Amino acid sequence: MSTTVIRGAKPYGEGDPVDIEIRDGVITAIGTGLDTGGAEVIDAGGLVALPGFVDLHTHLREPGREDTETIETGSRAAALGGYTAVFAMANTDPVADNAVVVEHVWRRGREVGLVDVHPVGAVTVGLKGEQLAELGTMARSAARVRVFSDDGLCVADPLVMRRALEYTRALDAVIAQHAEEPRLTVGAQAHEGELAARLGLAGWPAVAEEAIVARDCLLAKHVGARLHVCHVSTAGTADVLRWAKERGTRVSAEVTPHHLLLDDERLNTYDPVNKVNPPLRTASDAKALREALAAGTLDCVATDHAPHAAQDKDCEWSAARPGMLGLQTALPIVVATMVEPGLLDWRGVARVMSERPAEIGGLPDQGRPIAVGEPATLTLVDPAGRWTVRGAELASIAANTPYEGMDLPGTVVLTLLRGEVTARDGKATA
Ligand code: DOR
Ligand code: ZN
Repeated sequence: MSTTVIRGAKPYGEGDPVDIEIRDGVITAIGTGLDTGGAEVIDAGGLVALPGFVDLHTHLREPGREDTETIETGSRAAALGGYTAVFAMANTDPVADNAVVVEHVWRRGREVGLVDVHPVGAVTVGLKGEQLAELGTMARSAARVRVFSDDGLCVADPLVMRRALEYTRALDAVIAQHAEEPRLTVGAQAHEGELAARLGLAGWPAVAEEAIVARDCLLAKHVGARLHVCHVSTAGTADVLRWAKERGTRVSAEVTPHHLLLDDERLNTYDPVNKVNPPLRTASDAKALREALAAGTLDCVATDHAPHAAQDKDCEWSAARPGMLGLQTALPIVVATMVEPGLLDWRGVARVMSERPAEIGGLPDQGRPIAVGEPATLTLVDPAGRWTVRGAELASIAANTPYEGMDLPGTVVLTLLRGEVTARDGKATA
């Protein structure tokens, strides 16, 4: 029986430092001056202990675009970012719209073993938005799919969405909607506003998101199903969500680190590394999103980690693919945008990066309290640590980070999955 003692960490950044004893993947004691005889000791002086992070929105690109990311490299990036579970989006090639593909992704995640990889199943066959995929078969497969999404594309047909909500209600699963009314975003390249107009880029209006979120909240309430809204990007969507939650809709929502930090001023660079869907919005949208996350209107942070090959980014804006890397930079961005300004304490970080996403994704053994008898699935963070981002040094195959050269606060020192070290001092263990 292997024993590890984490010495001198502060759970949730609160109180005096404590020792955490771990045996066979489970927390067996928490206290001061624990006997470390024979145990492996991890010195965690000055570090904050949090439950391992859970990302509801990761593009791992396998199968199909292994030139940009694989389940192995993406798992490394996740472990280094403090994640212990990720949900792998379905817009792969082939699409994860059947049991064979989701089981493949799930198995490969287990083989790599650095994070729990939970495949998201497509809502519709081939992400075409027309015919429902075999949701029940994916739910009953070895991968036990509980989150379905056509992410990258919106389930735009209201009848298809209604039927999908009815099925997922029966399966105790959730639809994660990429909210974008496609008729309002034809050719869209950037947030519809003054800057896009000046640069001659076709606009992606806020209402394209808000209209779908409002519609889907009404549909979810009507059928009594759960709805999850992907990457909320506008102040207006937060207003819609507040309204829907107040009237008892079973809706949850995520916000990305980039929509918390960045805004459409970045368009001035004309660098497609800043192109993302939904687009970077105004500074006042970003402020409203930070406040909505602090207030709980937005439930959690999800990365929308979207690796892209250099040739798909180093090109003219309109030809570039949307998306940016996110797994290794998520915590530092949350520290910079939420912790440092006093909008969230570490308890709040645990809520938005771990507990709520685990609940939304239906993971009973993630996002658990740091307590005796609970799984030792933990992240140790150095709140005083700083780190300069270099895309080429990230674990992902792709390097499309919008944070290149930025000096960010808050470093992940150690990640533990059921007692096994998966990342330590900037190195993944597999
Ligand atoms: O920016 C994005 N990239 N948004 C999406 O919805 C899809 C994603 C991707 O797959 O690259
Ligand atoms: Zn999306």
